Amino acid sequence: MDVSKLVRQNLATMKPYVPGKPIEEVERELGIKNVIKLASNENPLGPSPKAVEAMRDAAAEVHIYPDGNCFYLKQALAEKWDVSLDNLMIGNGSDELLKLIAETFLHPGDQVVMAEPTFSEYTFAAKLMNAECVYVPLKEFAYDLPAMAEKVTDRTKLLFICNPNNPTGTVVSRKEVEELLAGIPEHVMVIFDEAYYEYVRDLDYPDTLRYVKEGRKNVIVLRTFSKIYGLAGLRVGYGFAHPDVVSWINRTREPFNVNSMAQVAAYASLKDADHVEKSVALNEEGKAQLYAGFEERGMSYVPTQANFIFVNVGVSSKELFPLMLREGVIVRTGDIFGLDDYIRLTVGTRKENERFFAALDKCLEQLKNKKY
Ligand SMILES: Cc1ncc(COP(=O)(O)O)c(C=O)c1O
Repeated sequence: MDVSKLVRQNLATMKPYVPGKPIEEVERELGIKNVIKLASNENPLGPSPKAVEAMRDAAAEVHIYPDGNCFYLKQALAEKWDVSLDNLMIGNGSDELLKLIAETFLHPGDQVVMAEPTFSEYTFAAKLMNAECVYVPLKEFAYDLPAMAEKVTDRTKLLFICNPNNPTGTVVSRKEVEELLAGIPEHVMVIFDEAYYEYVRDLDYPDTLRYVKEGRKNVIVLRTFSKIYGLAGLRVGYGFAHPDVVSWINRTREPFNVNSMAQVAAYASLKDADHVEKSVALNEEGKAQLYAGFEERGMSYVPTQANFIFVNVGVSSKELFPLMLREGVIVRTGDIFGLDDYIRLTVGTRKENERFFAALDKCLEQLKNKKY
């Protein structure tokens, strides 16, 4: 039997997501130890100790289903961000929220406007619903909002803005967003994916939550506990939108989409401002260290507002990648973003960044001499 004849035909156009290689897999396959992963923009400090403690306390209760409404977590977020509970949605990672948004709004043939390169889940969500992806190239590694606005038609339903953008780390400004929203038709839902929100230092970064608070119905803001809060393994993300929007998205949600450990850990993380501060400081130090290292080597990089850097390594990242793995350093190759001589590197601790440069120098030498 040919299963491909049974499945929904739009699935044939979809490629499975290629995640950053897990540390255990590299250690197992190559028989090496002490592998470091600078490939998935995780927090090198790990989770808040308060989150770990909360999970320890909650572990004995996992025979009970979680609160499907995430009440306490929503309450803490509502307080922190000065919104009402019905402005909030919580997902199994912001990935899930992206999928739920697509399931809520997209009919087959609807158009979704997004940049290229950007976070691949927008394409995934659109294609899953058999919608058409309309790609707009970045301009000097940054979103070109006027060009995106030009692509909007009567068939456009969603427009994604990854801010800061993954993989380039650039941001769009308050003024650019204001201009876009002033001209965008009501039938286009604009989604600001702010997964790296807490890392941003640019004073021109837009306060998009303001639009939700003002009651605007075609703006959704997404954030996550996976990055600065260091809870990527638990899968918990959140979003802000008008209560009408939230209630429609809620219809597509599984009843217990956010597990109980994730809920208590996220709640405790919100109460640990100190951990966030330390994480930002570490990231700023790491950025300076990596910038200096790239400059020393004459490599051009895109100044970042996030916890990763897009850097031109001057060789094929696809060729570099397996050599770096052998040195125990996992990075993200640029070829998946259409730029093969770039890598996307997560900012690590001082030691991790030093290890990265030692490995990079060795591998570049090997590539030069073709000794591998
Ligand atoms: C821009 C962007 N949005 C969303 C996500 C997904 O985050 P989560 O772990 O909350 O699903 C990521 C993860 O890498 C990301 O880079």
